[in-house]
Amino acid sequence: MHLNVEKLLKELTVEEKAGLCSGEDEWFTKAVARLGLPAVMVSDGPHGLRTQKEKKDDRYVGSVEAVCFPSGAALASSFDRGLLERVGDDLGTEASSEGVHTLLGPAINIKRSPLCGRNFEYYSEDPYLAGELAVSYVKGVQKHGVGTSVKHFAGNNQETHRMSVSDEVDERTLREIYLAAFEKVVKEAGPWTLMCSYNRINGTYSSENTWLLSDVLRKEWKFGGIVMSDWGAVDDRVLSLEAGCELEMPSSHGSNDKKIVQAVKEGKLPISVLDEAVRRLLVWIDKGLGRKAETYDKDEHHQEAREIAASCAVLLKNEHKALPLESGDGVLFVGPFAVNPRYQGGGSSHINSHLVSGAVDACPDSVQYLPGIQDNCEKRSPKRLREAVAAAAKAKAVVVFVGLTEAMESEGYDRTGLGLPDCQNELVERISAVQRRTIVVLSSGSPVTMPWKDKVSAIIDMYLGGEAVGEATVDLLFGLANPCGKLAETFPLRLEDTPSFLSFPGGKRNVFYQEGVFVGYRWYDTRKMDVLFPFGHGLSYTAFTYRGLSVERKGNGADILFRIKNTGRRDGAEVAQLYVAPPVCSVPRPSKELKGFAKVFLKKGEEREVSVHLDARAFSYWDGGWKTERGTYRILVGSSSRDIRLSESLDIAGDPSVPLEVTNTTTVRDVLEGGEDFPAFKEMMDQVFRMIGDDPMTRETLLGCPLHSLQSFLAVTYEDVLHMLGR
Ligand code: GLC
Repeated sequence: MHLNVEKLLKELTVEEKAGLCSGEDEWFTKAVARLGLPAVMVSDGPHGLRTQKEKKDDRYVGSVEAVCFPSGAALASSFDRGLLERVGDDLGTEASSEGVHTLLGPAINIKRSPLCGRNFEYYSEDPYLAGELAVSYVKGVQKHGVGTSVKHFAGNNQETHRMSVSDEVDERTLREIYLAAFEKVVKEAGPWTLMCSYNRINGTYSSENTWLLSDVLRKEWKFGGIVMSDWGAVDDRVLSLEAGCELEMPSSHGSNDKKIVQAVKEGKLPISVLDEAVRRLLVWIDKGLGRKAETYDKDEHHQEAREIAASCAVLLKNEHKALPLESGDGVLFVGPFAVNPRYQGGGSSHINSHLVSGAVDACPDSVQYLPGIQDNCEKRSPKRLREAVAAAAKAKAVVVFVGLTEAMESEGYDRTGLGLPDCQNELVERISAVQRRTIVVLSSGSPVTMPWKDKVSAIIDMYLGGEAVGEATVDLLFGLANPCGKLAETFPLRLEDTPSFLSFPGGKRNVFYQEGVFVGYRWYDTRKMDVLFPFGHGLSYTAFTYRGLSVERKGNGADILFRIKNTGRRDGAEVAQLYVAPPVCSVPRPSKELKGFAKVFLKKGEEREVSVHLDARAFSYWDGGWKTERGTYRILVGSSSRDIRLSESLDIAGDPSVPLEVTNTTTVRDVLEGGEDFPAFKEMMDQVFRMIGDDPMTRETLLGCPLHSLQSFLAVTYEDVLHMLGR
């Protein structure tokens, strides 16, 4: 500790304490010079440093030059914990070098709809994957003595009305889907801070949601850090301080500080609440003090970004050995993204990038380039199209670069559809009509529809691959790197198929999460719907086989073992995914859920054993607490959610049965199937069922009867029934 927190607490005035609960400006906390308390700086963003240091007319302008890594959606497609830690490591170094105390990332909101404008920044539709990767990222950053701010806690799943909309969502869905990744990071990585979201949850702003920030985050999850608000997310400052939001960002220019002081003086806010918030703030500030600023080489980080982008890319299709290309001879690149790549998203994560490379810069000189459409990638150019088609007909292979433009997806607003610009779809259609070896390189932060999918030979999705995406693309196209990414989200066939289609983005005031836990593949797989590309899908230039699955129960968990072999002609990496398929339970459950994954790098011909441990939570659902029901579960191991290679049954004992709770909704079925022995009641009902014989309607009606209604159908009073149950 560099600060004497308790001594400072005694010396700080109420006004100074209140002042510490909000920023000095956009990026700094307040200093208290007379007590030697320094200001500290926070900075975006999740995949690159957006540190602002220069002011003009008292407003920050520009940001320091930094290395732009692949965006969250790309990073998640790596399914590689080590890679996320590596990115965190690099960002921790960069943040340290610029004197940043806490980095404002990772951004881990769940992708409820592919239309969310900020999905490029987020990881996945699956909370297990998002949580696992965020743990690694946070550990990577924080080992440099730089904090993180896991965001946006919670339920920031759309940009439309993001600062006012209320997520109307049941607790089970919150716990299993929208809070689970945050819970994992808090419990396993100890982030210095969380950033609470703009939106309301069931009517209450996250920034003043006591259930969220105190009951769940601190009392249940034992979070020991601080909560800062998203920028401008505080509504009632006193309520938010009481709820557990210690730091309002940015500055509210003293107005909310005054409200805190006034509330203390009027006895509406106990000084103990303010002191506890300031104590946490001082502990947080102290963590980053005394740290020696690191230095780093931007070109080295650029090379890291290049390797990382290649490991994130997802090979969606590869037929007729279209990829990898043997050489640049006779190869044509088409599309302005080949020159000026789409490599990052718009908004607070936007980086002043060190060195942006296009694929044309990085490819062999023999490769020819033509734009094919207008430079903005949104408008046709008949002349350019004719030129490109004519050249494509003569080429050995054509690589068409398409993707969403900067204006089509961004923080601050949502997408309105899943399509690429018409001119891009036309370009791919026309070229693939004259060139069998047409390869599409996609750069977008979220899923798109592909009407030409069956007309091209290969598709590789680079997502928003960071500043080195051009070089990474060429490394993959020419086989210097072997694709090994997997989709961290489903690519649907149509927007109408998506789980939230009827309720996204909702109305002006509320958005109803009607699909419940059935988000992403949980929806498509449970309803056995076709999709364009499934969650977990991704091909390689080599091939892998799976064998030898063994499942051993350990309490209410299990140890899973299996073997993977690289049967192809080149080294490569495979992401083995482990899903749990539950039996029929007393609540509707997704047909499968990701509960484990391992990325295995194998030389050609190499085979390796993989082990995954599943804890009890892997079999549980939320129903007022985590519940595990007795039954036979299926363990599924596969190369994607729809390419299951191995499966095994596993009997799980489930939670010890609890004494039957008799209420006015307890039914005959609850008593007979609850696991407890009530001989008199059972004898009575056996007699009744014998009497009615083979009459399913009457039988089912009786089984569904609440106990209090039996007296209307049988010669028995409700008191008699309760007596039979020992009540
Ligand atoms: C923005 C974003 C948040 C960012 C903050 C500071 O509104 O929602 O992710 O860290 O403001 O730029």
